[in-house]
Amino acid sequence: MNKIFVLPLDVSSKIAAGEVIERPAGVIRELIDNSIDAGSTEIIIKIQNSGLGKIIISDNGCGIGKDDLELALTKHATSKIKDIDDLLSLSTMGFRGEALHSIQTVSKLTIISNTDNQSAGYKISNDGENPFTIIPSPAKKGTKIEVSDLFYNIPARRKFLKSGQSEFSTIKKVIFDKAMSFLDVSFYFYNDEKLIFATKGDGSFENAFFSINKTESKFAIFDHSEIINKTLQIKIYYSNVNTFFPNRKYQTLFVNKRPVSVNFFYPAIDNGIKNYISPGRHPLFYVFIDIDSSLIDVNIHPAKKEIKFYNNSEIFTTIQSTVTECMSKIIKRDILEIENTPFKITEIQKEMFTEDQTDYSYFKKTEHENYVIPQKNNIQEDIITNYENNHKIKTIQQPEEQKTVSFQKNYKIIGVAFDNYIIVEKDDKILLIDQHAACEAIIFYKKKQRYAKGFDVEKLLMPAIIQVDNWDNDTEKRLEILNKNNFLIEKDEGNTVFIREMPSILLSNKDYQIACDIVLKFLEEKGEIKADIIDFILIESSCKEAVKQGDKLTLIEIAEIIDDYFKYEIKNCPHGRPAHFELSKDNLEKVFQRKK
Ligand SMILES: Nc1ncnc2c1ncn2[C@@H]1O[C@H](COP(=O)(O)OP(=O)(O)O)[C@@H](O)[C@H]1O
Ligand SMILES: [Mg+2]
Repeated sequence: MNKIFVLPLDVSSKIAAGEVIERPAGVIRELIDNSIDAGSTEIIIKIQNSGLGKIIISDNGCGIGKDDLELALTKHATSKIKDIDDLLSLSTMGFRGEALHSIQTVSKLTIISNTDNQSAGYKISNDGENPFTIIPSPAKKGTKIEVSDLFYNIPARRKFLKSGQSEFSTIKKVIFDKAMSFLDVSFYFYNDEKLIFATKGDGSFENAFFSINKTESKFAIFDHSEIINKTLQIKIYYSNVNTFFPNRKYQTLFVNKRPVSVNFFYPAIDNGIKNYISPGRHPLFYVFIDIDSSLIDVNIHPAKKEIKFYNNSEIFTTIQSTVTECMSKIIKRDILEIENTPFKITEIQKEMFTEDQTDYSYFKKTEHENYVIPQKNNIQEDIITNYENNHKIKTIQQPEEQKTVSFQKNYKIIGVAFDNYIIVEKDDKILLIDQHAACEAIIFYKKKQRYAKGFDVEKLLMPAIIQVDNWDNDTEKRLEILNKNNFLIEKDEGNTVFIREMPSILLSNKDYQIACDIVLKFLEEKGEIKADIIDFILIESSCKEAVKQGDKLTLIEIAEIIDDYFKYEIKNCPHGRPAHFELSKDNLEKVFQRKK
């Protein structure tokens, strides 16, 4: 690496004030960035007590020479830029020369480092009598940085640190994001000497993803890159439309390798996939944009995830159309697969549409007007022609879904009455299943299962604001309960409530409005608190996400609901209302006096 220099005042004053270290995760992000900038291929992160104790990061990068050690800790000293123009061709993660300086002012810090040009390593620390002491210390090439007693000299900040669990999950997310954007670097992450995860650094996104998300069952991850022009490139990692999540935890935008948040990212994805997948289902999308530094404002606070593009609409369109391109590639791949494997649906079709005499005209009336029962021979042709002629995907979607829905054969769907009651024949009974109640219960059980595995806390960039009328002791108690259960909610004197953090399970639906409605409903309810808060959230959000009475469903959607309905042995909706009504064959025969 270049030598470290202190930036001249006229340069440092033009750079926006940078990192104020707020949390252990911020320290870790900065130190990892430094290791990456030093060309490391292996970075080992060890924390104690979920980051509230020591933080130790070792790398095998270029190291810091003895003469530069003190400069590394000096304010506005950096080896990465020399003047303001260098910002336009920035290729490093850091450039302000502030991180080590800030960290050392609020903690006990030690650096041990060695370079190719030195016979021995050196150690600098800020805990001696003098501000810094430098002594020889055996070390391989690379750098090891140890931070302890973070905020020992700012008790107020120390008090503000979250619980270990919360700090730990923020740290894990920081390292996860780094590992996903630097696939050639191997990351090891330990908490209290226990290995949390390790990535190989073999360049494979899929390997890195599953090394970290070990509980996730394996699914295929594809990638697609496009060079849009000289200044803009995009690479997307994505899952098949059959692999989706109820929330957006695996949808992240990186710009020049930094995770960022822009308000048009999710809309761009949703627009890009809308012809391929039902709303509310979120496939994995890791979108990496590489953009010329002159087209973004890099000079923003490094701790903030916001980013300013000078060409928003170009970025929006690029994401949207590349996402669509990814989806169409998948469809084409699946068509090839269909061609090469026996077409599973025909048997089901035979059973469901040919053998019985039921009138299925109902299904043709749904909004999927071009729902066609695919014929074995012409389906691929139809799909390709349709796709290539007009990009209308609706008919493509059908075989895609039909290939994956597993029909249980122990029931028969007769139809839907009054746009709400699914009529199913099973064993010796006819069931009238309330589509909303059923769907609500299914979503609820699925959420409960997922919730049992844990969840993240979602930190809102801008607090969500709601107004509560009639604030009383009851409301106060309810607010306390929320704050004890992974919410961070504050209230001002005018009964305006600011939601800053909430459990991510509450955001599995698309917009924050629903989450706010649920919080408001909870706060405004009076009297005894019946369900526990998590059940309350799960029930309310399931209700909001479920199909409604009057929604017109396709046969495939109905079959998915009925499959799950029997799988979860549902009888009631989570609010307690019945979810089906039964008519036995026996009773029918009595009514028609076939039997006494
Ligand atoms: N892990 C490391 N390996 C090699 N050099 C490092 C490492 N960490 C820090 N440095 C050196 O210390 C300097 C100051 O680091 P920092 O305060 O983070 O500022 P910046 O990264 O903005 O330059 C860097 O410019 C770099 O030269
Ligand atoms: Mg840095």
